[in-house]
Amino acid sequence: MKAKFKWGIIAPGKIAHAFAEGIKTLPDAEVYAIASSSQERADAFAKKFKVAKTYNAYETLVADPSVDAVYISSPHHLHFSHSMLALNAGKPVLCEKPFTVNAVETEKLLKTAKEKNLFIMEALWTRFLPIYGIIRKWLNGGRIGEITLLTSTFGFRPERNKKGRLLNPDLAGGALLDIGIYPLSVSQWVMDEHPESFKIHALMGETGVDELLAGVLIYKNGVVSQFSSNFLSENINDFYIYGTKGHIRIHPNFWGSTQATLNVNGKEKTTSAPFNATGFEYQTAETMRCIRAGLLESPVMPHSETLSMMRLMDSIRAEIGLQYPFE
Ligand SMILES: NC(=O)c1ccc[n+]([C@@H]2O[C@H](COP(=O)([O-])OP(=O)(O)OC[C@H]3O[C@@H](n4cnc5c(N)ncnc54)[C@H](OP(=O)(O)O)[C@@H]3O)[C@@H](O)[C@H]2O)c1
Repeated sequence: MKAKFKWGIIAPGKIAHAFAEGIKTLPDAEVYAIASSSQERADAFAKKFKVAKTYNAYETLVADPSVDAVYISSPHHLHFSHSMLALNAGKPVLCEKPFTVNAVETEKLLKTAKEKNLFIMEALWTRFLPIYGIIRKWLNGGRIGEITLLTSTFGFRPERNKKGRLLNPDLAGGALLDIGIYPLSVSQWVMDEHPESFKIHALMGETGVDELLAGVLIYKNGVVSQFSSNFLSENINDFYIYGTKGHIRIHPNFWGSTQATLNVNGKEKTTSAPFNATGFEYQTAETMRCIRAGLLESPVMPHSETLSMMRLMDSIRAEIGLQYPFE
């Protein structure tokens, strides 16, 4: 039996709980250390998930020699500095999406990880989910023919907290970086290429960040991905891939889906692929596999795709005039 892989977590927020819950299903892994800006929150998290070490500063967690890798789950605007903190302490990193706020930060992080010979990956959990493996086989097998069109929605109505991370420009708020990244990333995953151009429309809210974004990505063979992301209404939140012989529906919520329907020439079949836990366990297992194998990146979420996604989001932000105060 392999020695247990010891995870350290920076920032015990909502998503860190889902991450830790997922680890319970991995027999060769444990959450070993938790760091919070508050000792009380670190203690509460440690109690809930039976974590051995608690730290009230992120710096002390990365200095712990027993930590094998660090999962960063702080708000977007801190991903760069927290990932850099971990890399500079010699730790591999799994960092929440969006990997950073802009492509310049992404380039610096990837360069540092390479120089230090350390693994780093954006925690875009969607593409590690079992149903996505099944969809990949359908696409590679040509089941729906040539792809012609992608359509998707990601919309929900969050609590209107102007200081919270979704609406606050100081925390890199806005629909694009928080949820728009999913339709962009799944489109990139389906097409396996960067769009040639895009058209975009945004509604900016009272705090100055995008609360609705609707757009099309246009690929070189004429395929179009039509998407929207918004904080204004609850949407269906599915993702369709249309082809010349049929279509695939990735059921809601497509970014965390366990079901897909394949329709070929009008004949439909729905397939389920339930999670072992929260769905976060698949990206965690892949990170551990890569680190143990001495890889610096995962072929499932390669650095080049994280960087091209950040560049695309930079271009979209330039188009809608969204620059954060700290940039
Ligand atoms: N993969 C997914 O499905 C998914 C889903 C939701 C979110 N996320 C990503 O995960 C990250 C965290 O999201 P979340 O929903 O977990 O956020 P959250 O519940 O607000 O937690 C963020 C944590 O970061 C720490 N923090 C440090 N500085 C902060 C500041 N200035 N303001 C607020 N918090 C600060 C806090 O922990 P301490 O102060 O205790 O250290 C807080 O608990 C985001 O980048 C988001 O995009 C991913």
